[in-house]
Amino acid sequence: MNVVVITGASSGIGMEFALQMDNYFTNIDEFWLLARSRDRLKEVAGVMEHKTRILSMDITSDAQLERLEDTLTEKKAVVRMLINCAGYGLMGEFAGQNREEMLGMIRLNCEALTNITHRLIPYMRKGSRIIQMASCAAFLPQPDFAVYAASKSYVLSFSRALGEELRRKGIYVTSVCPGPVDTPFFDIAEKAGSTLAIKKLTMVEPERVVRKALRDSYYKRSLSVCSLPIQGVELAAKLIPHGILLKGMTVLKCYHL
Ligand SMILES: NC(=O)c1ccc[n+]([C@@H]2O[C@H](COP(=O)([O-])OP(=O)(O)OC[C@H]3O[C@@H](n4cnc5c(N)ncnc54)[C@H](OP(=O)(O)O)[C@@H]3O)[C@@H](O)[C@H]2O)c1
Repeated sequence: MNVVVITGASSGIGMEFALQMDNYFTNIDEFWLLARSRDRLKEVAGVMEHKTRILSMDITSDAQLERLEDTLTEKKAVVRMLINCAGYGLMGEFAGQNREEMLGMIRLNCEALTNITHRLIPYMRKGSRIIQMASCAAFLPQPDFAVYAASKSYVLSFSRALGEELRRKGIYVTSVCPGPVDTPFFDIAEKAGSTLAIKKLTMVEPERVVRKALRDSYYKRSLSVCSLPIQGVELAAKLIPHGILLKGMTVLKCYHL
């Protein structure tokens, strides 16, 4: 049985992956949608044409990931695509962060993503693909978004190296690095801080990010960056010393840009 596994499928970008792939993917037997909220997963599954399995679970729990693995074995599933979207961010000064929420962000964005990727690779075959939601925050350190940006740098670095290892087996990894995307992400992210106004100007819809990500994954590209301003950020982060960019960000913050 060919399956697509999507984490964070109850909302935002993960939900959008499920809906777009439901339209275009014909060789998939089942979509497996993962998130904690069963009700929201049910709503997504309710509009899908493909057979859809709802797996209401906290992916930071090793025991729950073990059960996922058991189900994959029991169903003799082949994971054609793994899409890791579950994640959250917290803005605001590091010292003022709630420690448990901050450490939880590292557990979800980094540890759980690594854990599920490691557990699911044995169920993949030649031609399987992995999409990892990183962020343009991965390109450079970000004051007032420090731990989130570092967690996404981890995702990008890990996924690019993994992509080179798996290429030999015919499995392809794409890291997706959007700027701000219009999803419920900001309900959590802005609890203790706010997004720079200039960043909000570059906000895009999830449809666009996902369409580009699916195309880049199809063409076996290791990186997916969907809009011109964010491609500019990527280039700047490569060309300009990060010390200068960090000073620039502080100036923008002072003028509330
Ligand atoms: N929106 C943006 O501006 C933006 C930009 C760049 C990158 N990203 C990245 O894109 C990814 C998706 O974000 P989004 O914008 O779609 O945000 P979102 O709408 O808040 O979606 C986050 C998803 O993660 C799930 N989730 C959270 N904790 C979980 C846990 N412990 N176990 C299982 N699932 C969990 C949530 O479902 P439940 O609450 O039901 O568990 C939800 O489905 C994240 O990795 C984010 O960092 C977002």
